[in-house]
Amino acid sequence: MDRKIKRIGVLTSGGDSPGMNAAVRAVTRTAIFYGIECIGIRRGWQGLINSDFIILDSSSVRHILGHGGTILYTARSQEFMTEEGRQKAVSTCRMLGLDGIIAIGGDGTFRGALELSRLGIPTMGIPATIDNDIGCTNYTIGFDSACNTAIDCIDKLRDTMQSHERCSVVEVMGRHAGFLALYVGIAVGATAVLVPEHELNFEEDVVARIQNSRLSGATHFMIVVAEGAGSAFDIGNRIHESLGLDPRVTVLGHIQRGGAPTGRDRETATRMGYYAVKAFAEGRTGSVICTREGGIVETPIEEALAMTKHLQMDRYAILEAISASAPAIK
Ligand code: F6P
Repeated sequence: MDRKIKRIGVLTSGGDSPGMNAAVRAVTRTAIFYGIECIGIRRGWQGLINSDFIILDSSSVRHILGHGGTILYTARSQEFMTEEGRQKAVSTCRMLGLDGIIAIGGDGTFRGALELSRLGIPTMGIPATIDNDIGCTNYTIGFDSACNTAIDCIDKLRDTMQSHERCSVVEVMGRHAGFLALYVGIAVGATAVLVPEHELNFEEDVVARIQNSRLSGATHFMIVVAEGAGSAFDIGNRIHESLGLDPRVTVLGHIQRGGAPTGRDRETATRMGYYAVKAFAEGRTGSVICTREGGIVETPIEEALAMTKHLQMDRYAILEAISASAPAIK
């Protein structure tokens, strides 16, 4: 891109995640630093279709760094999936004089960014989702906050499960991925963690672990289920049928998406927002800002969308060894 960037739009799309506001702030402030005007597009891609925008200046992003949610609102737009919808979005970009769009969200958001760039609007992506399931980047904004929220909730559950000597089955989010469940499961010392990446053998993965745990002295049990691995209620029923326990089931749900972002999410979001604008200012577009080996890299959006990330199964093995090891009896 050889012409100077004068004005960009920034939007948040898909499921929100703690730290999105920090990214919006960083984009706005970095744009101002480079002499670029910044427009906030509200309600994701749908807002671009509807010309739903606010002008962002330094003060409009004051005091949002530590707030969950997104001041720009977010949405999943069906209309943007159509050619007609995307053409309307292009018209909005032309009308507002936008030289580019920074889209903050997950892979659905990046598919939108790719489509828009094919219609001549330069785009950059910033990965933000509590699922941490974006192949091109080690880390996505919001994951750490969601993990900590889930850990806090499960620690509380453990107190009452311990008092009543019960079994708890907790369902955590993650869509089709088990990153959140596995991380949280290790951090709370779960008896078992069920993830979609590992085919469930109920006898081995649940029954035997609870039995081993009991034989090693435990009187309460914590089973963490990734939503993509099945329903916590079904698992609870099966535990009841197999072992006669009376499990209590908790679905953490959207509480995992809220709350103040952790330091890691604020810092990562700020760095990613900075680098997305810097790339634009230096004439590079069409990439997702990714963390890899501690640094930031730009990955072309099409390439980024084709990349997959595998659950670290060594962590699954660690959990197996530590939390539900064989009893110390023979
Ligand atoms: O992608 C983030 C996420 O929170 C997933 O973990 C979950 O499956 C989904 O969004 C829930 O979406 P919604 O907010 O539309 O219910």
